[in-house]
Amino acid sequence: MAKNGNKALGDAKKQKKDEFYTQLADINAELRHYTQHFAGKVVFCNCDDPYESNFFKYFAANFNALKLKRLIATCYAGSPVAGRQLDLFEDYAGGTAAFHNSHDSMESRHLGGDRPRIPHKIVINEVTDVNGDGRIDLADVEWLIKNDKNVLTRLEGDGDFRSAECVELLKQSDIVVTNPPFSLFREYISQLVQYGKKFLIIGRQDAVTYKEIFPLIKAGKMWLGYGFKGNATHFINTCYEDYATASDHKAGMIRVSGVTWFTNLDHKKRHDEFVSVRKYNPVDYPQLDNFDAIFVEETVDIPESYDGNLAVPVTFLDKYNPDQFEILGITKTWDGGATKKYPKQIQVDATGNRSNVSKLNDGAVIRVETPPKGKTYYLVNGVPYVQRYPRIIIRRKK
Ligand SMILES: C[S@@+](CC[C@H](N)C(=O)[O-])C[C@H]1O[C@@H](n2cnc3c(N)ncnc32)[C@H](O)[C@@H]1O
Repeated sequence: MAKNGNKALGDAKKQKKDEFYTQLADINAELRHYTQHFAGKVVFCNCDDPYESNFFKYFAANFNALKLKRLIATCYAGSPVAGRQLDLFEDYAGGTAAFHNSHDSMESRHLGGDRPRIPHKIVINEVTDVNGDGRIDLADVEWLIKNDKNVLTRLEGDGDFRSAECVELLKQSDIVVTNPPFSLFREYISQLVQYGKKFLIIGRQDAVTYKEIFPLIKAGKMWLGYGFKGNATHFINTCYEDYATASDHKAGMIRVSGVTWFTNLDHKKRHDEFVSVRKYNPVDYPQLDNFDAIFVEETVDIPESYDGNLAVPVTFLDKYNPDQFEILGITKTWDGGATKKYPKQIQVDATGNRSNVSKLNDGAVIRVETPPKGKTYYLVNGVPYVQRYPRIIIRRKK
């Protein structure tokens, strides 16, 4: 199931379409942990067509409760349906029919899926409860842009988050919150860091192993948010085949596993103490052959009272409390922490096929007495080794 979810995501990445949309329930579930950060702030959703984006809807609906100073959203033209002739912007302009059908649910619009995108920006400075029902909802959004203090305008370019006009809006913003295109995640993050912005965004969990991302996590400039249950969720989908099993299938959605929230906004969970329930012994915790650390199979196995270096799975970051642990490195070649470089290696796969490889140098390696049966292993000068998934090297703080 996770594999299938990853296939959907892999397809999305390969096709570089990035067209799936976040559910309001997921946004609510994460954002409720950060409400203290938003008072007086300018929020920018820079991959967010207000017609589609529940991020825009969330911040418009909670504008006053969060005490926002301003909400800006920009819409990108590069949709799979862009280019069809339909002068939708006429509907936007003039304010008369702005946010047509705003009573429809966001989901039903997604499922429609045939609306071209006209790149535009919307700037919300004031939200009043026009229909007097005591809460702000999309019925009021229709009226938002009739308010002189709120502005809806076409962008000059295509709304790319890297374009000069979008960077200008970024500079005027305090906090960026969105689900950006996964295929541009590295660039997206580096732009946020370059302009010193606060952010709360969705990305692939394995992005923590990217050489552009891991150093930020190690330096305490970015960390994980609360995340999705089981690091998987359903996104609103108009483009991709859903590979979810019947029990996980939801109409109009794709289930995507291995996703999480990345942020540099502080939150309570990252100060929760991790409580160890295991004790160190040299059999269950072998020394890595190529890093100065003992191998820890699962985060839950982190032994108590062990002050040396620990090679933990990347999922440890879900439990990472910077008051308790220090991040030292990652078992990737580019991080440079390996204590040895292997010469020529022979990979023996699960079926016994042999090939010459060099990948033993990019990962956590354990020397074994006897080759594992039915699993891949490596021979270096006749000595058997196994390689494990990337590990993060950590140490308890004194
Ligand atoms: C994963 S979708 C998420 C949309 C929306 N933020 C949400 O969560 O529902 C990513 C969005 O980024 C847009 N996008 C793709 N490339 C972009 C770019 N270079 N600049 C800005 N937006 C882009 C896509 O069109 C898509 O709408």
